[in-house]
Amino acid sequence: MQTRTSLRLVAGVAAAALLLVAGTSFSAETPSAQRVAMQGFMRQKLVLSQSLLEGLSLERYEQVQKSALQLRKMSQTNAWSMLGNVQYQAQMTNYQANLDALWAAAGEHSLDAAASAYAKVVVNCVDCHRIVRVDQHLRQVNRGGK
Ligand code: HEC
Repeated sequence: MQTRTSLRLVAGVAAAALLLVAGTSFSAETPSAQRVAMQGFMRQKLVLSQSLLEGLSLERYEQVQKSALQLRKMSQTNAWSMLGNVQYQAQMTNYQANLDALWAAAGEHSLDAAASAYAKVVVNCVDCHRIVRVDQHLRQVNRGGK
C-alpha cells in the first residue's frame, strides 16, 4: 500500500503547511520570513494538483475528493486575502466553485464531470498567476527594482 502511505504523507505535509501559515503572523518587519512561509504554502497547491491528476487517472475518487477539499480549505485561509488585490477575489470565487464541482463529481464517481472540473481548476491556476505576475512586476517597479 505504497500509494496510501504517500497519500497520507501528502495530507500530512499539507496540514503542516497550513499550520505553519496559521501560526505565522505576516508582520511588515519580516518580509523574507513571510515570503518563505507563503512560498511553502503555495507550493503545496502543486503537490495537491498532482494528487488530483493521479486520483483521476487511476479513478481513485476518494483521493480526488480529499485533495480537492484540501485545496478548498487552503483557499479559505487569510494567506490570500492579505495579498489585497481585488482581482484575486473574482478569480478565487471561480476557483472555489470549480473545486466544489470537482469534489461533487468525484463523490458521484462521475469521471467525465470530474475531469472537466479539474481542467477548469488548472485554467484557474494559470489565470490567477497571470494577474499575480503583473501585480508583482508593479510592486517591484514601485520599490525601484529591488
Ligand atoms: C486566486 C488566485 C490564485 C489561484 C486560483 C492559484 N494561485 Fe497559486 N499563487 C497565488 C498567489 C497570490 C501566489 C503567491 C505569489 C507570491 O507572492 O509569490 C501563488 C503562488 C503559487 C506557487 C508558488 C510559486 C513560488 O513562488 O514558488 C505555486 C507553486 C502555486 N501558486 C501553484 C498553484 C496551483 C497549482 C494552483 C491551482 C491548483 C494555484 N496556484 C491557484 C494565487 C493563486
